[in-house]
Amino acid sequence: MQLFESVFSQLPTLDTQRLTLRPLRMKDAPDLFAYASDPEVSRHVLWDTHRSLRDSRQFLRSAIRQYRKGLPGSFAIVLKDSGRMIGTIGFMWVNVEYKSAEVGYSLSRNYWNQGIMTEALRAVIAFGFDELRLNRIEAQHETSNPASGRVMAHAGLRYEGTLRQRLVNKGRYVDVALYAILRTDPR
Ligand SMILES: CC(C)(COP(=O)(O)OP(=O)(O)OC[C@H]1O[C@@H](n2cnc3c(N)ncnc32)[C@H](O)[C@@H]1OP(=O)(O)O)[C@@H](O)C(=O)NCCC(=O)NCCS
Repeated sequence: MQLFESVFSQLPTLDTQRLTLRPLRMKDAPDLFAYASDPEVSRHVLWDTHRSLRDSRQFLRSAIRQYRKGLPGSFAIVLKDSGRMIGTIGFMWVNVEYKSAEVGYSLSRNYWNQGIMTEALRAVIAFGFDELRLNRIEAQHETSNPASGRVMAHAGLRYEGTLRQRLVNKGRYVDVALYAILRTDPR
């Protein structure tokens, strides 16, 4: 089994000061729905606003299926204080040949601007370099979502350029800013 496949099929739990990052589970559905049903949270991500608990269950089923196949997936972000699942962060894809990958994340609006995603991203980057032995980790955000760029910069990613109309999000072409960190970069 390839390294990536074996790590993704048994995603570990990562610990930070305020957070536990652990594999998603079906029991996360109510917490997930509580924030994924907020259109402000889904505005700049590629998934649609969850309309019912069914959408959240479907999201979790598909995440768990990814683990079973050993494919790149996301961690649940759990607040240690309350035990609440308040977001997700993880790998969207991995290029085995080039040892590169892209990270994506989202967080409940109740917890924005407290440094939580910066804390989570730092842990996932360390995991990517130390456990997955990656060489390059990318992240991209819509130019209309600068808070995400701040998170990337705080976690040591460097801005590499803006890609015009790279994606279609909710029916509209969007410009995205691309960031990356190399394993030799300061963290
Ligand atoms: C983007 C997101 C992940 C940020 O998470 P967070 O935990 O609030 O991030 P942090 O608190 O670690 O850092 C936020 C930074 O953005 C800044 N910020 C917040 N709103 C901003 C805005 N409108 N314009 C510019 N910067 C902004 C904050 O001041 C902070 O930067 P600073 O520490 O330099 O002052 C969160 O808002 C989110 O999940 N949004 C919805 C989903 C999403 O957009 N995901 C990312 C897709 S690329």
